[in-house]
Amino acid sequence: MEIIKDPKKIQELTLNLRCSEKSVSLVPTMGYFHKGHLSLMRWAREHSDIVVVSLFVNPTQFGPNEDLDRYPRDFERDKKMAEEVGVDYLFAPEVDDIYYPDHATWVNVPKLSQYLCGKSRPTHFQGVCTIVLKLFNVVNPNIAVFGEKDFQQLVIIKKMVRDLNVPVKIVGRPTVREPDGLAMSSRNAYLNEKERKEAANIYKGLVKAREWVKNGQTNSETIIAKLTEWFMEHIPSGEIDYIEIVDQENLTPIEEIEDKARLAVAIFLGKARLIDNILLEVKK
Ligand code: PAF
Repeated sequence: MEIIKDPKKIQELTLNLRCSEKSVSLVPTMGYFHKGHLSLMRWAREHSDIVVVSLFVNPTQFGPNEDLDRYPRDFERDKKMAEEVGVDYLFAPEVDDIYYPDHATWVNVPKLSQYLCGKSRPTHFQGVCTIVLKLFNVVNPNIAVFGEKDFQQLVIIKKMVRDLNVPVKIVGRPTVREPDGLAMSSRNAYLNEKERKEAANIYKGLVKAREWVKNGQTNSETIIAKLTEWFMEHIPSGEIDYIEIVDQENLTPIEEIEDKARLAVAIFLGKARLIDNILLEVKK
């Protein structure tokens, strides 16, 4: 595996690879790898000739009071893990390599960015879209692979790519979970022992809600009220940021579930803000 820091170098290299008919997959990450990242890399390994993983803690997607400075980092460990799953290139630029000091261009999908996480993180998705499009332009992938844990991110990136005719196929892959159900996330590293135990109840609550829907409860207000109560009892150290039931494509709230919907939650727990989501399906 080769480590590349210079965007011009990886751009030239991947352009040449594409010209010689090689398929290139990109797995964009912010590092501190876990099994979720590795499953994306493995998928990319199986579906393309060349696998590029980008490792860049993107400052523009963090709000002023968020965790940019303490975001977990361990380059040596990441390097070893990526190498073990057969990644070809680890693209790990510095902030100054990626952003000009007078960077002035932003990519926005405003409508989809106002819902869910966008309410408490108003500039987050602008930062995500901008860096993802920049990475696409630098790495020239045919395919880019993202995790479904960041459901809103995936929906927004798909829309950006469609609207701007970006020639990259976006692949969403299922959330990888700890044995007790907690969605794998680099931010789980912030949790102390008590918080970690409670965090497992996020997914348990989502599964309960899925059962309520299967058993005929289709009113979102009722489901959200029941789940709020359940979370307050089972995640006493947590503070709910949001629980919402939304349309899977346009992310607008759904009042009555008729077919499929996405239940998405964000919970502050200690120093972490954890997100998760699940598909709700009405039994027909
Ligand atoms: O999902 C992430 O880790 C980040 O938002 C991404 C897509 C790598 C952009 O910085």
